[in-house]
Amino acid sequence: MKIKNICCIGAGYVGGPTMSVLAYKCPDIKVTVVDLNQKRIDDWNHPDVTQIPIYEPGLSDIVKGARGKNLFFSTDIEKGIIEADMIFISVNTPTKTYGEGKGMAADLKYIELAARQIAALATSDKIIVEKSTLPVRTASAIKDILDNIGGNGAKFQILSNPEFLAEGTAVQDLLNPDRVLIGGDTSTPEGNEAIQALVDIYGRWVNTDKILTTNVWSSELSKLAANAFLAQRVSSINAISELCERTEADVNEVAKAIGMDTRIGNKFLKASVGFGGSCFQKDILNLVYISKSYGLDEVAEYWAQVIKMNDHQKNRFSRDIVKKLYNTVSDKKIAFLGWAFKKDTNDTRESAAIYVADNLLNELAHIQVYDPKVAEHQVYFDLDYLNTRSSDENKEQLKVVNDPYKAVENAHAIAVLTEWDEFKTYDWKRIYDSMLKPAFVFDGRNILDKKKLEEIGFVYQGIGK
Ligand code: UDX
Ligand code: UDX
Repeated sequence: MKIKNICCIGAGYVGGPTMSVLAYKCPDIKVTVVDLNQKRIDDWNHPDVTQIPIYEPGLSDIVKGARGKNLFFSTDIEKGIIEADMIFISVNTPTKTYGEGKGMAADLKYIELAARQIAALATSDKIIVEKSTLPVRTASAIKDILDNIGGNGAKFQILSNPEFLAEGTAVQDLLNPDRVLIGGDTSTPEGNEAIQALVDIYGRWVNTDKILTTNVWSSELSKLAANAFLAQRVSSINAISELCERTEADVNEVAKAIGMDTRIGNKFLKASVGFGGSCFQKDILNLVYISKSYGLDEVAEYWAQVIKMNDHQKNRFSRDIVKKLYNTVSDKKIAFLGWAFKKDTNDTRESAAIYVADNLLNELAHIQVYDPKVAEHQVYFDLDYLNTRSSDENKEQLKVVNDPYKAVENAHAIAVLTEWDEFKTYDWKRIYDSMLKPAFVFDGRNILDKKKLEEIGFVYQGIGK
């Protein structure tokens, strides 16, 4: 089966970059990314490609190369669905904030909405590809909706094709993935044909030995498991970091020593103020919820501990700041370098910075935030979302500035929350001179040169040292 027309529902962090690369690599396939958010679509269509809504190194060039040729961004969801022979669903699946499974289960209302729309509109056979991360067995729910509503005689095949891209390296991860995973109905010829159609698309630029095909459930579970394993590594090294701080071991040295064991491997062993991002916590909560719903309490508890450790790491970072600043930060000024959940992205979802700020604001600190890519309104949105204090109080106690040297002026302490490269290149002597003394640096990412900073006169505190 040759695919000529693809539609993707959801122009977010996953849908946007994935479809841009797909269109770029397959000039003969028309790719339309639809979204119900008009502003988002307008931003993707911005005449100046550097202004697209998602910041990812290399992405604007990819968009420039394909947009208007075979890559389109639109709010006309109906047209997109009707024309396509393959539809990717890439809408968001936040953790439920109400009802059964509140705080744990994924909210599938957008997925269901998309499935219902497809069912109502389709007049020809379609391959539906789940791109969103979903709880295991969601494909069967989608299939149920499609088979029961589809009144126009169209037939549907459902594939699971989880996305493993990491933000900040999305374009590279899409161009050179470690593997592509495609789950489908391997028991029928139609199912295998649909799988093959998607294999053929990725096969244009990915080596076929890196394209894995599995049944749908394995594919869905692999995505949750991959994120849980990655997050677990971060929590593991963070647990060791606290022990290092008590024993005069250095977590970087420990990470290096264990990482050289090829069975352990050296990646994802950076101690930090805690992991963030839209996926890790949500996917683990999902895993916990699914395990619990099957009565597997020990399995659920095992994975829940990864999140518990992460919350502890964020909280102890802010507690340590208070402790070092003579047990009070009331009316003291603390400069935040970084707000994004990692470098090279403007995404702030679940960023450790939000929680550290919230804790310090509870202690009546004043915070000045500088992040090279995060907009002011986003910082306030993140804080207001926690509902800890009024929006006016957040604005009063926390300011966002667009100059790092302004952020640190007259500050009692600096907290590094994101590992942006530019922080390493600052004039730290100039920063020191403009701060109140003793000048503290709390490096939540271990990116600064401790020795150099101490020579300048800073009191430096990293993680796990
Ligand atoms: C993705 C995945 O889909 C999610 O499952 C994964 O865990 C994280 O990454 P992401 O692309 O980051 O989500 O989400 P987001 O940036 O919020 O984009 C989703 C888009 O879908 C939004 O632009 C939203 O407007 C759109 N949407 C949502 C629709 O077009 N229709 C809907 O019904 C719901
Ligand atoms: C993750 C997965 O890596 C990706 O495969 C999946 O598709 C989506 O979820 P992402 O959340 O974009 O990607 O970023 P990632 O690089 O995994 O980092 C997640 C968080 O862990 C960040 O806050 C990062 O700073 C933190 N982290 C990562 C550490 O603290 N230490 C590390 O060693 C690695």
